[in-house]
Amino acid sequence: MSRSISPIEGSSTAGYANEADDLFERYEARRSADVHKPWSHFFPASPARILDIGAGTGRDAAWFTSLGHHVTAVEPVDEMRTRAQKLHPEPEITWLKDILPDLPDVRALNQTFDMILMHAVWMHLTEPERTSGMATLASLLASGGRIVMSQRHGPVPKGRRMFEIGGEETISLAAQHGLKCLYNIRTGSTAAENMALRIEWTRLVFEKN
Ligand SMILES: C[S@@+](CC[C@H](N)C(=O)[O-])C[C@H]1O[C@@H](n2cnc3c(N)ncnc32)[C@H](O)[C@@H]1O
Repeated sequence: MSRSISPIEGSSTAGYANEADDLFERYEARRSADVHKPWSHFFPASPARILDIGAGTGRDAAWFTSLGHHVTAVEPVDEMRTRAQKLHPEPEITWLKDILPDLPDVRALNQTFDMILMHAVWMHLTEPERTSGMATLASLLASGGRIVMSQRHGPVPKGRRMFEIGGEETISLAAQHGLKCLYNIRTGSTAAENMALRIEWTRLVFEKN
């Protein structure tokens, strides 16, 4: 059973609209190639169809297009998505306003994906949202496709809503949808501001048979 470690109740997106300026500076300062180095050997060969959920500033979506992929980038917060679209206008990125757990607009595309990226998003969802969200993800994944996701551990930034979720909970939830865990590693953060706070990350990769 997960435990809420935030005093904030409400939306999974709490805090992002207000902090967009600061977040663009911080997220765009990091190179995607460095952020994703530990698990990049699980990424598909190009060209692949990638769904980036909670795409934030679009940093990763743009990087994937530079590698020859097509990316559907989902970001529910207007203040993030409209600015991200201007910063990363690559035609290989399809931007969508949509939100977990149901992702109705993504599902309306009637498309499956070779990889679903959810970097630093899952810990924003409540337990019921995670349960239905995993079913949504499984339905959007092509056979042999992979989910690449990270969940954060440690103090919750002021104004955000986050939950402490163990890797085992996500692995068990994924297994209920036929998703096999290929990778489960918990490490300290490499971002300077998070290292000081002793933030840790669980990185998980799942494959649909
Ligand atoms: C910590 S940021 C990570 C952004 C980006 N993935 C990255 O690694 O730079 C989390 C992002 O998830 C988005 N988000 C929060 N709740 C969401 C939900 N229910 N569905 C989709 N995205 C969500 C936020 O708006 C925010 O842009």
